[in-house]
Amino acid sequence: METLIKKIDAENMTSEDFAEAVAFLRGGQLVAFPTETVYGLGGDAFDPTASARIYAAKGRPSDNPLIVHIADIAELAKLCEDVPEEAYALAEKFWPGPLTMIMKKADCIPKETTGGLSTVAIRMPSHPIARRLIQEAGLPIAAPSANASGRPSTTKAEHVIEDLDGRIEMIIDGGSSDIGLESTIVDLTVKPVQILRPGYITIEMLKEVIPDIVYDKAVLKRERNDSIVARAPGMKYRHYAPKGELVIFEGEPENVMNAVLKATEEKLSQGYIVGILASEEFAGDYVSRISKNWPVLGAGVNGRGEPFALIEVVGSRDNEETIAANLFDKLRDFDAKGIPYIFGECFPGDNLGAAIMNRLVKAAGYHIEKV
Ligand code: TXA
Ligand code: MG
Repeated sequence: METLIKKIDAENMTSEDFAEAVAFLRGGQLVAFPTETVYGLGGDAFDPTASARIYAAKGRPSDNPLIVHIADIAELAKLCEDVPEEAYALAEKFWPGPLTMIMKKADCIPKETTGGLSTVAIRMPSHPIARRLIQEAGLPIAAPSANASGRPSTTKAEHVIEDLDGRIEMIIDGGSSDIGLESTIVDLTVKPVQILRPGYITIEMLKEVIPDIVYDKAVLKRERNDSIVARAPGMKYRHYAPKGELVIFEGEPENVMNAVLKATEEKLSQGYIVGILASEEFAGDYVSRISKNWPVLGAGVNGRGEPFALIEVVGSRDNEETIAANLFDKLRDFDAKGIPYIFGECFPGDNLGAAIMNRLVKAAGYHIEKV
């Protein structure tokens, strides 16, 4: 099929801009759209065939439930049974925004949308294009992240085109997602309430509303062979992984830098091109030390057929928001350039660092070297 790609300017949009997207959604077809976290692949949440199409387009296992997106808190009582007081307290503080809540589903939500579960995940996004799309369609929109299953999530329309062009009816291009990591997911059906996926809304922020909230054990998992299984079905699959082999190093900054340099030089001397996922603070030292012996590029391919290091700055250790915003884009960039080995740094695991490390550890397939 031909995928219609349409740019919409959030500062200057009209109902007319959404006409095709609304027609597709009402017809049970699929439209990818920007949110403040990542791009979503949307379909009518009430339509089981739309959900089936979402799974097929992504190549996603159909036991992995979708998030239902709404634009009005009043929808909660229609889509969920027995909405707990905590849900309204969280919504009051964090909606619209990057928080997803799991509750008991109402009968109007088909089990195809929830991967067969009796619970449903609900989120009210803050992105103006996402909100307007939901309002114009007059439907709750089921949307997973708009990437091919297993690949890093998409934070730009170009990423969605890479993964889904020809597989869905439409992509709305609304520029880059600000946050860059998927929403925080909390499960309100258990006591104490659990965080199933860390995100921009941190445990520190959530404790202000729910003081006894805890992480699902799988969130902090660091060992591949650990028997802990994630409670969010989607968190148990191989995920976010670049095509190249990613290894991350953990320890004192000085040791981490030396370990990245050593691993890089070793692969270069074996004839491989190497990618470094660098913090802004370390990038300069990587460049000056590696460039003594090898070609180093900031971007692009040197075309000389000799090994080189490609150093990509993911963000600043002093400003974790920059790392969150760029992480998936940089991982995709290494793929686009066919880099076989990628080495990177670990970051402190508190606040937004919990979400960054959760994604990075999975992207590395739990390959963490302690140094
Ligand atoms: O930021 C986001 O949440 C993005 C944007 C598009 O809103 N969406 C997103 O959806 O990340 P997705 O499908 O990639 O991730 C949803 C996660 C999966 O890990 C899924 O297993 C989990 O939420 N999930 C959904 N419904 C659930 C439920 N009823 N119980 C447990 N986990 C659930
Ligand atoms: Mg996803």
